[in-house]
Amino acid sequence: MSQKDIIDWGDDSSVHLPNIPKARQVKVWDILVRVTHWTVAAGIIANLLFTENGSELHEYVGYTVLGLVVIRLLWGLVGTRYARFTSFFPTPTRLKRHLSDLSVRRVDEQHLGHNPPAAMMMLSLWAVIIGLGITGYLMEAELLGNADLLEEIHGLLANSLYLLVPLHIIAAIAMSYWQRQNLIKSMITGKKTVTAKPSTMT
Ligand code: HEM
Ligand code: HEM
Repeated sequence: MSQKDIIDWGDDSSVHLPNIPKARQVKVWDILVRVTHWTVAAGIIANLLFTENGSELHEYVGYTVLGLVVIRLLWGLVGTRYARFTSFFPTPTRLKRHLSDLSVRRVDEQHLGHNPPAAMMMLSLWAVIIGLGITGYLMEAELLGNADLLEEIHGLLANSLYLLVPLHIIAAIAMSYWQRQNLIKSMITGKKTVTAKPSTMT
């Protein structure tokens, strides 16, 4: 991590005793991650609960959400450290390490980005949203004859969000308690509090 990633030292930055954990604020989520997260969330909730199914507004909101997800996915290839797929793609090795590290209830430098189960949830959410955009478009464009089947798939994908989104929110709240820090606030400010022994800090 470069020096400029460190935004701000905690109040205890004057403590120099060895082996006493120090807390500091680290920038984790860049502006693109945060803005796309909250606009996508707002658009999905609007289309699930408030817009008239299949209306013009529903379609505009759906395409906007789709566009934002595509931008976020491209950012996963070229973006900042914790936004990149390479930093959070849930490989079996990462999953095993995560499960054995679960006893670490605070966040240290190894646990800053999405953990592997969270990453699986995020990949599923992105896949469902892209599926909704594609089936929505195909329905509207009438490119494929079988509109009933497309409607059915679109409805099934939307229904899966009624399950995935609350699970995602419950997991974010549960992990906030577990790690003793507000992960939802981190998705707003971009910062996480890291505890690490002074000797391991860069
Ligand atoms: C953010 C993504 C989207 C969400 C969450 C979403 C959600 C929904 C839901 C919950 C329904 C009702 C399904 C049912 O009756 O079982 C629906 C219907 C529909 N959606 Fe979407 N949608 C999205 C994107 C789109 C897009 C991009 C389009 C097209 C451009 C679209 C076009 C339609 C149409 C035409 C219907 C009516 C289908 C019917 O007659 O039953 N949707 N959508
Ligand atoms: C329809 C609603 C939502 C969708 C589709 C959604 C989707 C996502 C996605 C795709 C990410 C990964 C972000 C990225 O790397 O760019 C994410 C992260 C996150 N979301 Fe949501 N989200 C939704 C609503 C919410 C809500 C309402 C909350 C809070 C109450 C929330 C809390 C979080 C948190 C805390 C993270 C970061 C998790 C971590 O630290 O690893 N999300 N969400």
